[in-house]
Amino acid sequence: MSISSDLLEGQVALVTGSSSGIGESVARYLASSGAAVVINYHSEKDEAHKIVEDIKSNGGKAIAIGADVSKEDQVKAMFEQTLQTFGTLHILVNNAGLQKDSAFVDMSLDHWNMVIGINLTGQFLCAREAAKEFLRRGIEPNISKAAGKIICMSSVHQVIPWAGHVNYATSKGGIDMMMRSIAQELAPQKIRVNSIAPGAIKTPINKSAWDTPEAEADLLKLIPSGRVGEVDDIAKAAVWLASDESDYVNGITLFVDGGMTLYPGFRTGG
Ligand code: BGC
Repeated sequence: MSISSDLLEGQVALVTGSSSGIGESVARYLASSGAAVVINYHSEKDEAHKIVEDIKSNGGKAIAIGADVSKEDQVKAMFEQTLQTFGTLHILVNNAGLQKDSAFVDMSLDHWNMVIGINLTGQFLCAREAAKEFLRRGIEPNISKAAGKIICMSSVHQVIPWAGHVNYATSKGGIDMMMRSIAQELAPQKIRVNSIAPGAIKTPINKSAWDTPEAEADLLKLIPSGRVGEVDDIAKAAVWLASDESDYVNGITLFVDGGMTLYPGFRTGG
């Protein structure tokens, strides 16, 4: 890992949904950059505790907290425990998310509500609790130029419509407007709010799209860079957005997608 180990020294970060996939990698990178990290999980308790042990054995600080981010009482309890343990919070990575895919006419209200509840409402609830703590504490000049940083995990599907995934794509489109509205509101208080929009990254969420040579070849037609992304590609972007290296960056979506949003079908068509 080539990221400086003191870039986030003295800071506390909470990463939702960090027991696997992109969230896990983000949490590990934030920890290697010096932050104390809260590993939030929903059902993967053992996996979360294993990550905590790894971080500690590398000399870092971490705890695991279980919470369903779509439930207000659980989110509040998670933030209380974070503040009790580490004293404050400097970085929130709103990462928890899931897919419940189906053809539009077959989509149940339960699956619509579940995806909007976790992917979008969950980000709202966590961002609100984080912002309250950032405003309470304000800037600590020896720690960061910002009073706090929020990173929302979006997707290329905040701009690319996605048949068979209307709940998911809608949640990601919503994240974009939520993120920019919060950024506009809190910029004067020196809180930075940005999104990362991953393209196709090798994680459990999209395993069927890359785990056979045929599926991977199909997927690569959508990726001009010619490779499926790795979780580290996203984690490195998250460290940058969380650090003062990006102090003048506010209200943007950083697409980390190997060019997927370049609409590669138009290279020869249209
Ligand atoms: C989805 C993945 C998908 C990728 C590109 C992500 O947001 O979660 O399943 O592979 O977008 O389509």
